[in-house]
Parts: sequence; C-alpha cells; structure tokens
Amino acid sequence: MTGDFVQTVRQVVEKLKGSYALAILAAQRPGEIVAVRQDSPLIIGLGQGEYFIASDISPLLDYTRQVIILEDGQLAHIASQGVKIQDRDGNEVAAKITPVLWDAEAVEKGGFQHFMLKEIMEQPAALRNTLGKYLQEGGISLPRVHLRPEELRAIDRICIVACGTAYHAGLTGKVLFESMLRIPVEIDLASEFRYRKPILDGNSLLIIISQSGETADTLAAMREGLRLGAKVLAICNVVDSTIAREAPNVIYTVAGPEIAVASTKAYTTQMAVLALLACYFSQVIKREEGVFLQLLQGLRELPNLADAFLASHAKTVEEIARLSLDWRDAFFIGRGLDWAIAQEGSLKLKEVSYIHSEAYAAGELKHGTLALIEEGVPVIGLVTQQQLVEKTVSNIWEAKSRGAAIYAITQFPQRLTDVADAIIPLPRLPDPLMPILAAIPTQLLAYYAAAARGLDVDKPRNLAKSVTVE
Ligand code: M6R
Repeated sequence: MTGDFVQTVRQVVEKLKGSYALAILAAQRPGEIVAVRQDSPLIIGLGQGEYFIASDISPLLDYTRQVIILEDGQLAHIASQGVKIQDRDGNEVAAKITPVLWDAEAVEKGGFQHFMLKEIMEQPAALRNTLGKYLQEGGISLPRVHLRPEELRAIDRICIVACGTAYHAGLTGKVLFESMLRIPVEIDLASEFRYRKPILDGNSLLIIISQSGETADTLAAMREGLRLGAKVLAICNVVDSTIAREAPNVIYTVAGPEIAVASTKAYTTQMAVLALLACYFSQVIKREEGVFLQLLQGLRELPNLADAFLASHAKTVEEIARLSLDWRDAFFIGRGLDWAIAQEGSLKLKEVSYIHSEAYAAGELKHGTLALIEEGVPVIGLVTQQQLVEKTVSNIWEAKSRGAAIYAITQFPQRLTDVADAIIPLPRLPDPLMPILAAIPTQLLAYYAAAARGLDVDKPRNLAKSVTVE
C-alpha cells in the first residue's frame, strides 16, 4: 500500500479485468472499507452509525431503508465519518441516496412459515398492483415505454431474453406476441444469447425480463442488444436495478420484494405484464382487436380469480403434496402455453424440494420419455387450452395406461375425471391468460412438497437470489 488506502485500491482496480463487486479492508486502516464495482451490483446501506454492503437491496431491509446504489467505475470510501463517492477519475461526486419504498410488512413473514408461501399468497395483490398501475379506464398506459407508434409499427422481429423463471415467463410472451401481433418472436436464455452472435437491428425489439434486474447474463445480453442498435425494453421488479437503469424502456412489475430464492409472484406478474404489452402493441399496430379487448377484460378479473383459487384450492394442492414424500421423479406435461407452465412447474419443484423432475411437451412423451413412466410415477398434466384439450388428454392416457399417477391442473375438470387421480380445478379466463392462474398450483405443489420434507424452502441449497456471476 502506498499509504493512501483509496489511492492504492484505485491503482489495483485499474489493473483488474472482468466483473466484480469488492469490499476491501486494510489491516493498517481498521474501521474503513473501500468498495468498488464493475458489472456486478453493489449496494451500500446507510444505518444508524453503521453501514452495510450487499449485492441486493433485500438483505438490507431489516437494517435500513436508505441505500446508495454504486455505479460501475465508482469507488466508495466508507469510514466512521461517512461515505464518500469518487467517480472513475478520482473526483468526489455527491452520493445519491435512494430511499427504499417497500413497506415493512413486505419484508416480514407475516405469520407464514416461509417467505415462499407468503409470496405465493401475495400474488392476487401483486397482480392487482401491477395491472392497476398500467391498466386504467382509458386503456393501457406505460409511462416508461418511450417507443413511438411508428417505431412499434416498424418492428419486424422480437427477441425475448432472460434466465430461469423469467425465461419461462418469456415463453408465454412468445406465444402471445406471435399469435396476436403476427411478428416472429425468438426466445433465448441469456447465457446462450450473448455468445451466439444474435441478429438484431433497429427494427428489432429486445425484451429483457429479470426480477432482480441484476442477473449478470441478462444484463450482458441487454448490453449486447443495445450495442447492436435494437430497441430494448426491460421488465424488472427491482426499481433502479442495473437493468432498469440502463434500459431505455422499462415496465416494472409491482410485486414488492421477493425474498424467497424461488421466484413466484415476480413470475406471475411478469406474465401479466407480457400480456398487457401484447395488448398494448396490438392496439398500436391495430391487430387482433377482438382478442385484445377480451384479454383486457380477463386481466381486470385476474386478481380476484387468483384470490378465489387460493382460498378454495390451496388445501387440495397441500393434500397432493403430502403424497410427494414418496416421489423420486416427477413429470410435468402440457401443450402450447401449458408446456411453458410445465417447464416452470418442474423447475420450481426441483429447485425447492430436490425431487428430480422434467417437463415435456405432452406430444413428445411417446418419442422417448414414456420409457420412464412406470407404476406410481407422478405426472402433472396441465390442461388449460381449449384447442388442445383432446390432444393433451390423449397424451395423459398414454402415461396413465403405463401406471402413472395423474394430477391434472385444468379449467376443464369434467374432461379429466376418468383419467386423473386428482384434479385441481382452475377458474376460467381467456386461454392466453390461463398460464398466470395455472402457475399458482404448481408453486404450491413445490412449496408443500419441500415443506413436507422439512427443507429450507426459502434458501434452497447451492442457489442465490441474484445471480451476479456468469
Ligand atoms: O432476477 P432474475 O429474474 O433475472 O433471475 C433469473 C433466475 O435466476 C431466477 O428466475 C431463478 O431461476 C429463480 N431462482 C427460479 O425460482
């Protein structure tokens, strides 16, 4: 060290490559920390006579509601006298203190055993808040979307990019956009997209989905899209997260803080926002107006239906989940939008309960996977799409006749009584919105299966809430 702590860190940092968020201590300077970041989030919490450093706002909420979101290239010197921020060139800049507006209840379990269950139960409110923000009497208003009507009309390709659960939300967006807008939609995992030399230009719309707004791969994919000149729109839950700050167009989901590692309410609100966006575009480019009005009506009804479902059927799912103590493998199957939900349901189950699970497009079973079906293997069949009921039911019979135990999640219970061992009936909504309701029992199933096994549901092994590394 040259003697000057801050100066020494600056000299070292200049030599670093890659992404990092560092909090550096020096034996000679007790009581001081120098923090720096590059492409990785770093949040400084300002407490009463104390400071905190984290990669996400959520863990700070028990201690403070005042944070400084450090920017790339900035350096923070934290000492008992306060926090001083320098820019990349070493000039002192004013620290921008951001108040965190999440209410206290949002970060407490509120009588629930786990945050995951609380967050599942909060979905009607999360949907109400999100939809209420953008869906007004006069129509849809998206204040942070600055795309002009002529720019929207010129879009000839949409790319949706995300990771994990947010990617699964994107799968539903693809189906909706293609069917309503008749514009080709590609969907990619962010970790793949950034390395596959994507083809994007000024007439492409890149939709980025991220609950945290900090996922390293998703952020890199967004930057690549911006570099290529695409129009970029981000769907985020965390206000002022890196993705939200860098995206030229943003739609926030208003799900409130999601503390459990397993994403639930962020996911359903992401799907609701995608449906809203599809309606917004189709209004501007004047396509499928009939469908659009029907969907808007459905979106208005959605929060109450989610409420009604949770009130009347959470127990049914809990009972099914009790059987899961004997499950070693599980399969989720569905077609079209139901396949999207099957993929998310399967991820959720393995993520929190550690039961091995796979999702298949129902029509694919007979191309190999059927070999794994034997007596008692649980198959969760999603059947919510009117046009595909007969086909999916026939695939469910293929599994049933090999001994599978069938659990059906459906808005057509009468069509499944013969084949299903248990049925979770869903309220009715227009088919394109059914994934948002159908997701809820899959989340409950995962939750109750994990809770029955006595697992640490909110913090599954090996996983982190924000994935800020590649
Ligand atoms: O914050 P993000 O939405 O970008 O996170 C993406 C994934 O890491 C996340 O959805 C992950 O798959 C969840 N743990 C799933 O429950």
